[in-house]
Amino acid sequence: MTRSEFFDLVGREEVQRLARASGTPAYLYFLRVVRKRHADLVGCLPRRFDVYYAVKANPHPGLLRELGSMGIGADVASIGELEAAISQGIPPGRVEFSGPGKTESEIAKAIQHGVSSINAESLAELEIIARASVREGRIAQVGIRLNPGVAPTQAGLRMSGATQFGIQAANLEQALRFIRSNDRALRFTGLHVHTGSQILSSEAVAENFRSILELALLSEDLGLLPLQKINFGGGWGISYFPHQAPLDLADLSSRLADLFNDSRYASLKTARHIVEPGRFLVGESGVYVTTVLYRKPGARREFLIVDGGMHQHYLLAGGMGQVIRRNFELDYFPVLDRPSRHGSSFDVAGCLCTPQDLLATDVLAHCDVRPGDHIVFFNSGAYGLTASPLLFLGHRLAAETALD
Ligand SMILES: Cc1ncc(COP(=O)(O)O)c(C=O)c1O
Repeated sequence: MTRSEFFDLVGREEVQRLARASGTPAYLYFLRVVRKRHADLVGCLPRRFDVYYAVKANPHPGLLRELGSMGIGADVASIGELEAAISQGIPPGRVEFSGPGKTESEIAKAIQHGVSSINAESLAELEIIARASVREGRIAQVGIRLNPGVAPTQAGLRMSGATQFGIQAANLEQALRFIRSNDRALRFTGLHVHTGSQILSSEAVAENFRSILELALLSEDLGLLPLQKINFGGGWGISYFPHQAPLDLADLSSRLADLFNDSRYASLKTARHIVEPGRFLVGESGVYVTTVLYRKPGARREFLIVDGGMHQHYLLAGGMGQVIRRNFELDYFPVLDRPSRHGSSFDVAGCLCTPQDLLATDVLAHCDVRPGDHIVFFNSGAYGLTASPLLFLGHRLAAETALD
């Protein structure tokens, strides 16, 4: 979403007004942007897909409530996320539970809640699910998270191939046999594959779907257990930086239509198809609002020190697997209107005592920035507050507000 598309939905003056009205540091999430992105996603998918939201992207209750009210399910990675989703109206029957380190007590709780699929990430986990299910006296719905052995090279963050996630495809048969021979404890739901995050190439996203369909055929060919669902994971990217072209949704839509019309995959049509994006649904909906505390000279250029920082927005400082830190799009809002004036360029630093706490470098301000002014960082809706080292330096939490 370009800045002007965002401002068509939200309005620059509205952001300015809210920045002035809200205490800082604060995150603001605009639900109308989430609705737009959901409509874009659904418009791109062949009709029979169910959308589950990857709660790890942002578990804010306002976002979960909105997504739940739209009939969206949830992908959760802990009991905390499961309970957050349920408390905002997402029924456990529309929740899948994945993650390589589920404890036995988490598994037992997921069985008690009756989640629609516990996606096992190892053969040892399958044994624990079977044991917990006997103890709970309830059949557990289990899926297999498969690791296809390779990751999309275009993914910003790779989560398959040589990573700790999922069961190797070579062990699929063994896993299916185990589930089949424990049918008093386990009911097989189907496959789950999530290969990576922040994929911006429509060709790579479509190829990812194709490789998952091939794995589903492999499972079907084994003839051991029918597939009730295929979960294609998340990973659809958003464009954070000027060199990143946004995902071409029109192209993706036509590639997916061709793929799902391919007769090679006709036998898989009866299985439910699920996608579980996080970043694509909420990433562009959020802004992070900070206040300038100090403007001071530095050895290279002037610094603006703001009241936020990497403890609240690790992504801004280059965290969460980025190789190079780059500037997010930002905007200055003077606390009192002042004439626009080009000229000074700044480094923006947070309030932590580490040189890593750099939030933007060499950015040009369109006004004479002073303490008290606001700096707003866009594309801050996903992997923001809860993906940051919040306890570092003991500052208070940023406020968060979901707005219609
Ligand atoms: C299993 C699983 N599903 C979905 C996602 C969501 O990924 P994204 O936010 O890139 O769509 C993740 C992210 O790590 C994940 O681990």
